[in-house]
Order: sequence, then structure tokens, then C-alpha cells
Amino acid sequence: MSASQVSTGHNVSVSRATAEIDLGAIAANIEHLRAVAPDSLLQAVVKADAYGHGTVPVARAARSAGADYLGVAFPSEAVALRGAGDTGPLMCWLYSPDENLASCAAADVEISVSSVSMLDQVTAAAQQADSRVGVHLKLDSGLGRNGSTPKEWEVLVREAKRRQDEGRIEVIGVWSHLACADDPESPATQQQIRVFSQGLAVAADMGVQPRLRHLAATAGTLAFPESHFDMVRCGIGIYGLSPGMGLGSAADLGLRPAMTVRARVAMAKVVEAGHGVSYGHTYRTSADTRLALVPVGYGDGIPRAGSGSLPVHIRGKRYIVAGTIAMDQFVIDVGDNSVEAGDMVELFGTGAAGAATADEWAGDSGTIGYEIVTRLGARIPRHYVGVEQ
Ligand SMILES: Cc1ncc(COP(=O)(O)O)c(C=O)c1O
Repeated sequence: MSASQVSTGHNVSVSRATAEIDLGAIAANIEHLRAVAPDSLLQAVVKADAYGHGTVPVARAARSAGADYLGVAFPSEAVALRGAGDTGPLMCWLYSPDENLASCAAADVEISVSSVSMLDQVTAAAQQADSRVGVHLKLDSGLGRNGSTPKEWEVLVREAKRRQDEGRIEVIGVWSHLACADDPESPATQQQIRVFSQGLAVAADMGVQPRLRHLAATAGTLAFPESHFDMVRCGIGIYGLSPGMGLGSAADLGLRPAMTVRARVAMAKVVEAGHGVSYGHTYRTSADTRLALVPVGYGDGIPRAGSGSLPVHIRGKRYIVAGTIAMDQFVIDVGDNSVEAGDMVELFGTGAAGAATADEWAGDSGTIGYEIVTRLGARIPRHYVGVEQ
């Protein structure tokens, strides 16, 4: 990350729109999550451009804040991190059968394995890179996505042990992922913990005792201490959003949102009562009023499903989007209030002074906070605050 990408102040010029990323909040969230799971390592999950926050600056902030591991979905994401200079423990977990994993093997990236054919793929990569690859054997303890079924587990572990004895791989981890940890009442989590523990026992009986057994993501970390094992993998929590409102808001959970998105009013004008606003005229002014045009839209990742319901803040006042959100813009009806072209609009952020959070936007547009931050588009530049370089 270049020094120009990072500032410690809030004086960046917002020409159209910007996403301010508070790396200090990310560090504080990591410290908080570490304190919640004090006996486990912490993996910071930085896939999907660090949930829209920017992989490289977040990865560096996470390492500095004491994250023991980084996790990404795709081998390409892992190799890009290595290309940016990251050298610490790093794992990836999702790839297709024709993907060549040699660049991961050469870059000391640990790889998840769910089947014997994946084991073949990883072993071939290790041979090609002339290295020994760290693997994490994945058991499907009930999520029903990737991972070996409990039925096929024994075969996978046996084959992994054989490859380990041959020297091409090292089984560093056994892991799984929870389906319903955001629901404290769901019996699924205890059932998954049982299946996972049985899988560990089977592996131990076969002489495979990995140093990292890991199951919990943010929700499990916060709500199920018995799911912590040797490492927790936290994504959404490090970005300061709630993993599910059933567990409470981010503030209830001691988390600080790291992303604040702002835009500048592009124009303001007075129109008469009865004026239709935006496509389909789903909103009509009820009196002579002032309309403020905000130059961001679904082309920037603003959810169109939030048309007529998303809150924004201008000059300390909360307004709701008027009418349909378009590709590049939406409109706010500010009534008699004075709002001018150039005024700052806070879309979502920390929730301070009554402004909206990404979690609130999610609730108002039928999605989850994860999606609000992750799909924020590349047209909105990220600007970093909160750490000294
Ligand atoms: C396998 C795995 N582990 C951990 C995480 C992090 O989850 P969360 O963002 O809920 O902490 C994810 C994210 O989807 C994941 O796919």
C-alpha cells in the first residue's frame, strides 16, 4: 500500500463518492474477537477484496493487529496477496478441477482439500512446484456445500496420510463451516460440532492429528464458545458488521463498522407539488419541495431493492431515498430544508449521530450487511484512515 492511499485524517476530497475505510476499527475488531476466543488463533478472512474494503491494506492492518492467519476463497486471491508482499500463514479453499495450483504451492499457500481428486490436484501442484504443501482437510459437518461427507471421510484421511508419509503434503488442519451459527436457538450448530468432533476422532485413530482444528466464523466465535477449537475464522466481524441480527447489532456485539460511504450532492433544485421522481414515477412530491441528486446508483453497488426505503444523512438530518435508484444516481426529497450542490451525503457508516449503518441498509433492502459492503463497486474509490504508516 502506498503512503498516498493512507491518511489519518478525514479531509479527503470527495469529488463524487468515496468509501472511507477505518483500519483502526479493523484492528479494534480483531482485538475484540481475539478476546472473545482467547485460547484460539484468529484467521482474518479477506476474500472478495476484503468484503469490499480492499484486500492489501486490510491484510496488512490485520497482520499488524495480530491476526495469526489470513483466509481467502480462491487461489488467485492468495497468490495476489503473496504478490503484494504478504508472507504469513495463508489458506484458500475453493477451486475448480482444472485449476493449476502450482503457484499456490510455490508461494507457501495452504490449500483446503475435500476429496481424493482434490488431493491428487494438490499433490500434482506440490510436485510441479517441488514443494510440500500444507493442506486443511475439510469435512462437511452439515452445511452441505464443499467438504467430504462423513461417509467418505475415512477414505480421504487415509489417502491424505499416505501422501503425507510420502512427503508431498502436510495435514496442517481439519476444518468445517457452520450453517446456522447466527441463530442461537438452532440445534444445527451442536449437531455440526458433534459431527466435526467425530471426524477429528476418526482422523486421530488413523494417526492424523492436525495442529489446527477450526470450525467457527464470526457468528460461531461470538455465540458458541464450544465451536472455537484451535482457530476461529472471522470475516464480517473484523469489518465491524453483525453476522446476523439474531445475535444483535454490531454495537451490541462490541464491533465498530470500518466502512463509511459518502457522496456529494450533484445538484439541488426546487420542483412543484405532484412532480414525479425517477424511473416509473414511484414517488411523487406532495408539495413544492427541494430535490437533491446523489450521484451514485446500482452501478456502484447501491442496492436498487432499497428504492424508496434506504436512509441517508445530509447536514445532520436523515432522509429516505425518493423513488427508484438508477444506475448512477438517486434522489432525496429534502422538503424545505436547505441542501445545496456539493453538500456531503453520508450513505452508511458507523451509525454515529443517527446516520445509517450497512446493517441498517441491509435490513431496508432485503439483504445482509455482508452484501452491502462486498458489492460496493470499483467506481467508488477506497480511502484509508486510522493507521500511521
Ligand atoms: C469457509 C469460510 N470461513 C469463514 C468465513 C467468514 O465468515 P464470516 O464473515 O461470517 O465471519 C467465510 C465467509 O463466508 C467462509 O466461507
